[in-house]
Order: sequence, then structure tokens, then C-alpha cells
Amino acid sequence: MSNCRHNPLKPYPATIVKIIDETPDVKTFQMVFDDPAVMESFRQKPGQVAQLSVFGVGEATISITSSPTRKGILEFSVKKVGMLTSALHCLEPGTKVGIRGPYGNHFPYEVMKGKDLLFIGGGIGLAPLRALIDFVLAEENRGDYGKIDIIYGARSMDDLCFKYDILDRWPQMPGTTVYTTIDRAEPGWEGHVGFVPAYLEEINPSPENKYAITCGPPIMIKFVLQALEKMGFSDDQVITTLELKMKCGIGKCGRCNIGSKYVCLDGPVFYLSQLKQLPPEF
Ligand SMILES: Cc1cc2nc3c(=O)[nH]c(=O)nc-3n(C[C@H](O)[C@H](O)[C@H](O)COP(=O)(O)OP(=O)(O)OC[C@H]3O[C@@H](n4cnc5c(N)ncnc54)[C@H](O)[C@@H]3O)c2cc1C
Ligand code: FES
Repeated sequence: MSNCRHNPLKPYPATIVKIIDETPDVKTFQMVFDDPAVMESFRQKPGQVAQLSVFGVGEATISITSSPTRKGILEFSVKKVGMLTSALHCLEPGTKVGIRGPYGNHFPYEVMKGKDLLFIGGGIGLAPLRALIDFVLAEENRGDYGKIDIIYGARSMDDLCFKYDILDRWPQMPGTTVYTTIDRAEPGWEGHVGFVPAYLEEINPSPENKYAITCGPPIMIKFVLQALEKMGFSDDQVITTLELKMKCGIGKCGRCNIGSKYVCLDGPVFYLSQLKQLPPEF
């Protein structure tokens, strides 16, 4: 980002314009930079992250969940887990925050052209996938991609993020099928019940001319990867995005390295074939 050239660690002031309660512990924050020139030059790609700061508290790495095709606004979905994320959850629309980035690599949407895409997400793991889903579904890009299948699950109905997308908007898009599941049956839920990897095996998608892109809790990813392998997906057809701890975001602090790779520079998006070459600590 050209405006970060002088001090790459300097956050730019932004304002929260809207907050959406997704689940009891996840909120989506819509933000705009205070300086329109910064907004204009912030050219993120799907899969990239930013460092969000709450002044006086600190910073956290958060995926940009809005597609770059959506101009003039950035969205971040944040799960409350600790100090910074709890402080963010206490903020109201109108509050000033800091944003620096965009950081990391991105989903290889150029090489995915002409392919069918299978998205597999769990819980807050849908946040980074959503940026790519909305990118490929955008009118200007839709013709470049084949069929879109989205398999998404959460523990309960309450824990489903982006209900307005998964239950309403995406199923209405041409060539798009959304499969939603929750872990355990509950009153009022008439959809599928069961874990995401089991639902994936039930749906049994063909690997032909397809990329699978997955993000979710580590245990889900582990079994999803096993299921995809069983279905015949090669390691170069499977892409995931890691959420290891990051601090600086620019390859300086050494907080995010796995062997010789830095998640903030070489990732967070990796092909399964790349992950298999890394030490087993991810
Ligand atoms: C590439 C990337 C993308 C991310 N995208 C998102 C996103 O879109 N939405 C979102 O809500 N979160 C995302 N995260 C995770 C987010 O950065 C952390 O949850 C956040 O930094 C926690 O800050 P905190 O001060 O609230 O928690 P802390 O007070 O620092 O920690 C609270 C607890 O959570 C643990 N913890 C903190 N960060 C992580 C982590 N990354 N992985 C595992 N455990 C952790 C700590 O060890 C501690 O036990 C992402 C992380 C990375 C690296
Ligand atoms: S987050 Fe500092 S080196 Fe990657």
C-alpha cells in the first residue's frame, strides 16, 4: 500500500460506521478510513488481513471479510477471545479506530479462473472465505468462474455467522449452492445436522476442474483435508488460510514463522502441497 511507505507500522485513522451482531461472540464492523485518499489507495485482495487497533489497548490481525469489489468500505468480523477483541466488542458506531495493511498474500483468484469452486467453512472461518466468495460472485467477475458450492457449519443456529449471506443472499445467486449445517439438532432448525467434514463426505463433490478452499477450527480443517484427499482432490487443488499468531504483519518480529516461512509474508493463504512441506507445528 503506497500510503504505508514511510512508516509501515503506522495505523491510519478510521471510523466504525456500522456494527452487525453475528453471533453471541462475533460482531462484524464496517469501517471507513477518515482520509478518502487512504480509502482509495487501500487496495486489498481477497484473503488479505489488516491490523486493527483500538487506541490505548493494542492491535490484532483480522481478515478483511469484505470483497474488494465493494468499494468505499471495509468489513471485519471479530470473535471476542481476549483483550483487544473484547475492547473492540465494546465500541459503538462512530468510534475511531486504527487500520494498517493490507498484509499477506491472497487467494489465487487468477489461477482459479474457469474452475468450479468449493468453499468449506466453519464458524468464524467463513470470514476470510467470504471476501473471495463475494469477489467471484460480483457481477464483473462471475463469468470467470464455474459453479460455486459453499459448505458451512457452526455449533448451533446462534453460532452461524453471516446468516443474511448463507441463508438468503448467496443461495439466490446463479450457479451457487449453499449447504449449511449445525453440530446438534435444535428446535427451529430444519436444515442439516452434523459436523462439516461428515456433511462434505455426504455431498461427495467431484474434484474435476475444481478448487477447494477451506478455513475453520483446526480440528475441522484436519478432517476436511482427509475427506478431500479421499475424494480424489490433489494437494494442489486444496487451499487453506492459517490463523497463527501475528504481530507486526510485515516480516520483522518473528512471531508468525513456521520453519522458514512467515505467515504474514508467505501466507496466510497456502496450498495443501505447500503446507505439507512445512514443519508440523501449524
Ligand atoms: C492471518 C490471521 C487472520 C485472522 N483473522 C481473524 C478474523 O477474521 N476474525 C477474528 O476474530 N480473528 C482473526 N484472527 C485471530 C485474531 O488475530 C486473534 O483472535 C486476536 O489477535 C486475539 O486478540 P486479543 O487481544 O483479543 O486476544 P489475546 O488477549 O491476545 O488472547 C486471548 C487468547 O486467545 C489466544 N489467541 C490469540 N490470538 C490467537 C490466534 N491467532 N490463534 C490462536 N489463539 C490465539 C491467546 O493465546 C489467548 O489464549 C486472525 C489471525 C490471523 C493470524
Ligand atoms: S507477524 Fe511479525 S514476522 Fe510475521
